[in-house]
Amino acid sequence: MVQQSAHSELTMGVTRPPVTAARLTVADIQDMKPRGEKIVMLTAYDYPSARLAEEAGVDMLLVGDSLGMVVLGYDSTLPVTLEDILHHARAVVRGSQRALVVADMPFMSYQLKEAGAQAVKIEGGVHMAETVRRLVQVGIPVVGHVGLTPQSINQLSGYKVQGRTPEAAERLLEDAISLQQAGAFAVVLETIPAPLASLVSKRLRIPTIGIGAGVGCDGQVQVWHDLLSYATTFVPRHIPRHVKQYANLGAEIRGAIEQYAAEVRGGSFPTTKESFRMDRAVLSEVEAATAKPARG
Ligand code: KIV
Repeated sequence: MVQQSAHSELTMGVTRPPVTAARLTVADIQDMKPRGEKIVMLTAYDYPSARLAEEAGVDMLLVGDSLGMVVLGYDSTLPVTLEDILHHARAVVRGSQRALVVADMPFMSYQLKEAGAQAVKIEGGVHMAETVRRLVQVGIPVVGHVGLTPQSINQLSGYKVQGRTPEAAERLLEDAISLQQAGAFAVVLETIPAPLASLVSKRLRIPTIGIGAGVGCDGQVQVWHDLLSYATTFVPRHIPRHVKQYANLGAEIRGAIEQYAAEVRGGSFPTTKESFRMDRAVLSEVEAATAKPARG
């Protein structure tokens, strides 16, 4: 059960924000920046992941198009459709009460349908500013996303650190500023040098949410499967430098399933503990009533 509390809970020495029925608003998120409060964002793709993140006190849930890679098994985010995002966003909204839910706009999809999310995230800088402006004008809160933008992976020639040269760094700052001017309420900075992310965070009025962008951002976002090492697409391939694995759920789950399979095969599951009893007299009656007559 989601616990209700008026004050931050102290659970095993960890302070978490209270879980209240009221969802955080765009203004609540923006107000955290001047207070110096870090914004905690995590991807979620379904009801249980949203519930667990919510109970752990995450401020923003991102139904990222990383969905394509970590849940749907594609080798990039490009095949993800708006329908995919809507389907998963509805489950995340059902599984959360307090977190502000942001849904990714998948590659080449700039119409919008109702999923119950509070905001959308759009990849791209200056060239997407007009789209951001139009969405904001019709009342849709937008999170921008610059730096390593996986939807442009073919253009970027791989998952590489962005903004390393003076020109690229200036362009990135310009991209972020154009999104702020277009009305984005926050911007994700992905895989850029930490000092550049700190500079962008200082120059912007709106909060920056970093992933592979150092500690100077106003908040952080990570991909659920990477954080928990839960069947991530990066294992056993290359684990990006920005990923810190806080648990090893993949190994734990695989171990449990291996044990289940071994017990089924060896006949030690189920035991009487997992089985239902039947009155012996009832069984005898059924056996007698259904016995085949002996062949004459
Ligand atoms: O799709 C996603 O999960 C993202 C994050 C990596 C920011 O865009």
